[in-house]
Amino acid sequence: MTDFSAWTQACQAQTETTLAECLPLSSITPQRLHEAMRYAVLGGGKRVRPLLAFAAGEVTGADVNRVQHAAAAVELIHAYSLVHDDMPAMDNDALRRGKPTVHVEFDEATALLVGDALQSLAFDILTAQPLSDDPATQLNMVQLLALAAGSRGMAGGQAIDLASVGKPLDLPELEFMHIHKTGALIRASVLLGAQCGTVDAATTTALDHYAKCIGLAFQVVDDILDAEAPTATLGKTAGKDAADNKPTYVSLLGVAQARELAQELRADAHKALAHLGTPAERLRQLADFVVERSF
Ligand code: IPE
Ligand code: IPE
Ligand code: MG
Ligand code: MG
Ligand code: MG
Repeated sequence: MTDFSAWTQACQAQTETTLAECLPLSSITPQRLHEAMRYAVLGGGKRVRPLLAFAAGEVTGADVNRVQHAAAAVELIHAYSLVHDDMPAMDNDALRRGKPTVHVEFDEATALLVGDALQSLAFDILTAQPLSDDPATQLNMVQLLALAAGSRGMAGGQAIDLASVGKPLDLPELEFMHIHKTGALIRASVLLGAQCGTVDAATTTALDHYAKCIGLAFQVVDDILDAEAPTATLGKTAGKDAADNKPTYVSLLGVAQARELAQELRADAHKALAHLGTPAERLRQLADFVVERSF
């Protein structure tokens, strides 16, 4: 088994290539929109969701030619969510992935359209590429991503986030918000990667449990890093949650307890994989990465 960092670099490079091929060239009309879409997606980000899809695909023996397209689809939805999240009507951020945000580099209308178009492109890829031998499975995969991105998933979580500014949420409310705004797409990444291969009910249950744990852990750590890491490391404005009076795991529990929770979720994620053996090793490493990352 290659080391984790070589594996992540290979998956990230594959993701970059797939995304670059799927996105319309900026020479194609409307050039400015296509340029902004490529600006939003290419050359940045940790690509955690694609990494999760590739790792889940290893559990189910999936063909990487299939997984790369499922991974690209989820990353496009994620990139769209970031473009809109940064807009003045939402978090009003000027820095993302170490560059000016899309509405700053281009303009607000373009940023809106970039999000719209990236979302459509994600579903174009999920339907145009062969992801499963079974058409019913592929249809389920499309629905899985649609639900994860929509009002009962990411977009719904974002709505709760915005409605919660200045309100002290209790722990179950905060968990609900985080599971939706961030956990839903993380879960979709794992399940879509898995469904590119052959997956039985017990494996799906185990992967689903794993994905729920690390989906929540991911946002708990995002909250911690917002409070603790410098802007230069994050590539986005640090200290923004406190400045905007957002309820987070740090505002509710403090950094030390939030860290403890992230460690508990990591342990639960590992437990969920206990019966999946060596093929789940990348998923274990990713659970560690999600909790231990510094950016
Ligand atoms: C940031 O996501 C937004 C959240 C959902 C917490 P990432 O931390 O995955 O951002 P990139 O893709 O690496 O830039
Ligand atoms: C964003 O959460 C979750 C999304 C669905 C984009 P945050 O607002 O905390 O993400 P960052 O910190 O700006 O990346
Ligand atoms: Mg936000
Ligand atoms: Mg934000
Ligand atoms: Mg954040």
